[in-house]
Amino acid sequence: MDDTIASHLASSAERRLSTLSHHLTGHSASMASEIPNSALSPSATAGSYGGASSVFANILQAPDDSILGVTVAYNKDPSPVKVNLGVGAYRTEEGKPLVLNVVRKAEQLLVNNPSGVKEYLPITGLAEFNKLSAKLIFGSESPAIRENRVATVQGLSGTGSLRVGGEFLAKHYFERTIYIPQPTWGNHPKIFTLSGLAVKYYRYYDPATRGLNFHGLLEDLSSAPPGAIVLLHACAHNPTGVDPTLEQWEQIRQLMRSKGLLPFFDSAYQGFASGSLDVDAQSVRMFVADGGECLAAQSYAKNMGLYGERVGALSIVCKSSDVAGRVESQLKLVIRPMYSNPPIHGASIVATILKNSELYNEWTVELKMMADRIISMRRQLFDALSKRGTPGDWSHILKQIGMFTFTGLNSDQVAFMTKEFHIYMTSDGRISMAGLSSRTVPHLADAIHAAVARIN
Ligand SMILES: Cc1ncc(COP(=O)(O)O)c(C=O)c1O
Repeated sequence: MDDTIASHLASSAERRLSTLSHHLTGHSASMASEIPNSALSPSATAGSYGGASSVFANILQAPDDSILGVTVAYNKDPSPVKVNLGVGAYRTEEGKPLVLNVVRKAEQLLVNNPSGVKEYLPITGLAEFNKLSAKLIFGSESPAIRENRVATVQGLSGTGSLRVGGEFLAKHYFERTIYIPQPTWGNHPKIFTLSGLAVKYYRYYDPATRGLNFHGLLEDLSSAPPGAIVLLHACAHNPTGVDPTLEQWEQIRQLMRSKGLLPFFDSAYQGFASGSLDVDAQSVRMFVADGGECLAAQSYAKNMGLYGERVGALSIVCKSSDVAGRVESQLKLVIRPMYSNPPIHGASIVATILKNSELYNEWTVELKMMADRIISMRRQLFDALSKRGTPGDWSHILKQIGMFTFTGLNSDQVAFMTKEFHIYMTSDGRISMAGLSSRTVPHLADAIHAAVARIN
């Protein structure tokens, strides 16, 4: 490699790492504890060839991921009463992972299709999948789609789509600051910092009300520099379960458009929050309806249960089809050296379901069934705490939406529940309602009751 290119790459990688480390230690105490500063810095490797010691001897042990690490700890616990409420994956009443019936059917169709091949997909992915994904999030009547001004590329689930969007913006957009909610999904700050963007937070959650800090949100977005990128959870905000009302979304839209802020939607739970694909896309559609530009990352992990297939999409809504065409050409340049082209299987499953009205309808029924089970878990947990007379107001369990409840339990109370009751959850007090069942609710309610009674 040319020396100047090599040194440029090395220094830009170091810059990103140092920004990430600064960001993790400077902006959020909870994030700072996730990755120690030292574990982020590249550790010099020993240069002794042929010697006894490994050239990687100086590498530091990295900490477990704060969310996936919960499952690691859970798996090690031999207790028969253990419950994993850490990871955001749907479980049945029996506590089992679920493959949707409609997904099984689509896979059968794919297997039986004699013309199905395993050739490379184009850099942008399966064209049919991209079209159908854009329709799913923006609506079949979307003027942006009709006017051919949406550039959509297949991504590696939600995470990969966010990363491609982040790298594209870092390379081509004039304002490299992205505002993300405080708190947010733990991967967001890392994804965007390593994309080359500067991450800042806007206030989102009010611990006193366990609801939205709408005033703080508006104040922080008002003082963002013109053009700044703003990451918005389309619905079912993770980890808080707190979404703006439609009226509040409208105020956010007006403020953002008046300041020229660029919306970047993360849609990881379409259909999973309310049970309706259209209702859960309202926030995004509101911003597209005004004719302005935005980005949207979609994931099919939760709403189709395709977690491990890594299937998602990134759409960039532009002002004209000419711009969208050029944007797409640049997205290819971001993707090609990253993973060349995306996997074919998951996208084929999604396309098979979305283009067939019978399968599509069956999907919506199964999706609603998952959403309804989560909503019923909220009611059962609330009732169980009320029955026990657990001190405090627990109505937020009913009010919050989507996969998670942000309980308000502190890290000491969480540690107590893990130690004494074998209940596993992230230390910020977030529980995955999808991991609960009628059988485990009483055990969780006992644990919360004991934690609240014993620990402040
Ligand atoms: C808010 C949010 N965004 C994106 C994702 C991405 O998930 P995946 O990459 O599995 O689609 C998740 C998953 O938990 C999430 O909660």
